[in-house]
Amino acid sequence: MPASPLLFSTRDLLIGVATAALQIEGGDRNNNWYDWASLPGTIADGSTPLRATDHWQRWREDTALMADLGLQTYRMSVEWSRIEPRPGEVDQAALAHYREELSAIREAGIVPLVTLHHFSHPSWFQGLGAFTSPASPELFLRLTEVVVGTLGDLVTDWVTINEPNVYAVQAHLYSQAPPARHSWPAVRSTLRHMAIAHCRAYHRIHELQPEARVGFAHHARVFAPLHPGNPFHRASSALGRALFQDLLADAMLGGRFSRLLGRQPAEVTPGPHYDYLGLNYYSRSAVRGLADGTFPGVPVNDLGWEIYPDGLVEVARDLYRRYPGPIWVTENGTADAADGFRARFVHDHLRAIAGSGLPFERYYHWCFVDNWEWAQGERPRFGLVALDYAMQQRTVRDSGRFLSQVIAEGGVTRASHDEFVAAQTYPLGP
Ligand code: BGC
Repeated sequence: MPASPLLFSTRDLLIGVATAALQIEGGDRNNNWYDWASLPGTIADGSTPLRATDHWQRWREDTALMADLGLQTYRMSVEWSRIEPRPGEVDQAALAHYREELSAIREAGIVPLVTLHHFSHPSWFQGLGAFTSPASPELFLRLTEVVVGTLGDLVTDWVTINEPNVYAVQAHLYSQAPPARHSWPAVRSTLRHMAIAHCRAYHRIHELQPEARVGFAHHARVFAPLHPGNPFHRASSALGRALFQDLLADAMLGGRFSRLLGRQPAEVTPGPHYDYLGLNYYSRSAVRGLADGTFPGVPVNDLGWEIYPDGLVEVARDLYRRYPGPIWVTENGTADAADGFRARFVHDHLRAIAGSGLPFERYYHWCFVDNWEWAQGERPRFGLVALDYAMQQRTVRDSGRFLSQVIAEGGVTRASHDEFVAAQTYPLGP
């Protein structure tokens, strides 16, 4: 039988999935998020990260499933609170666990990408003020040295910090993350110290491992004025983008600190601090002042976030113009409990990448198995694989089979499009 024609190719991309330790591992009580989730009223469904996907026990099963699906790369994070449960005290057993898992991932032919900080950290670090503390970059560097020193023979690709902008505003403006204390100075000091931590870790990792590829995962969204004719909407949109996105890109990619982040730190010299541009892309905001929302009647996911595939290329092009380099989509995914439009979502984003003319090298779908969605708890379903939390049973969704087929065929064929994508439509928002 002749092979079905390719509608577009993904052969230039390494394709896989992304996760974060606290959202999957379960069983760890020694971190900021467990502490906070244990307080009444913090998590939408009252869950904690204690159960999650029980990946700490089930990583063998999960690795085998990734291999079955033919995934080429896997972004995961290591949990600081497991590695350094008390200040300066390294838990060798936790490191041995990660070594075993990473060895199995490599043996399965999957390229690992490891994140050092993805929203969670030890309770003792939170007690010191986390990244509001001027001591935090040094403490983060100590963790970096331990992790890269121990896992460096298994991992060469690193994400220092996940979404510093989201972390800072959720913790210190929107009360959606610990410590949920409203403070503009805390936003500023957090961003400053995370940027210093990243820049210093960038160099430190390269000293330890010259061949390493290091970057951070930037949460990039499209900011668009709700009414383009309204000068206030236009100005707010530009300001939102500058503050939420560009400020950090300049500090973390370019080592250049705007006055808004305080003086240029003595320990950071302006110049490139990245080997790839890491982008987490989900959605677009319709801006109408300080608050933002979605445009009326646009495609939305289960959480009401706009689905806007071209935006991935818009944010990438914009960043690439100022900071040229290979582009890794470190996260892209959607909440779709019924799996009614996820294959189309994957298809549309991969097609945008394929037609962009930009040097996209990797695509990590968020996420693999449905996982614990922070303040939203267990309800939102982002997985290519469905999870029955009570039974801890994994079931590959059609969208998971679709992505697997795309990888195997080197792109989207007419046949896979017809089987998985053609009948799917996006729900429309109000
Ligand atoms: C975060 C993930 C999260 C995802 C979906 C991203 O901002 O990095 O940890 O699960 O969004 O909400």
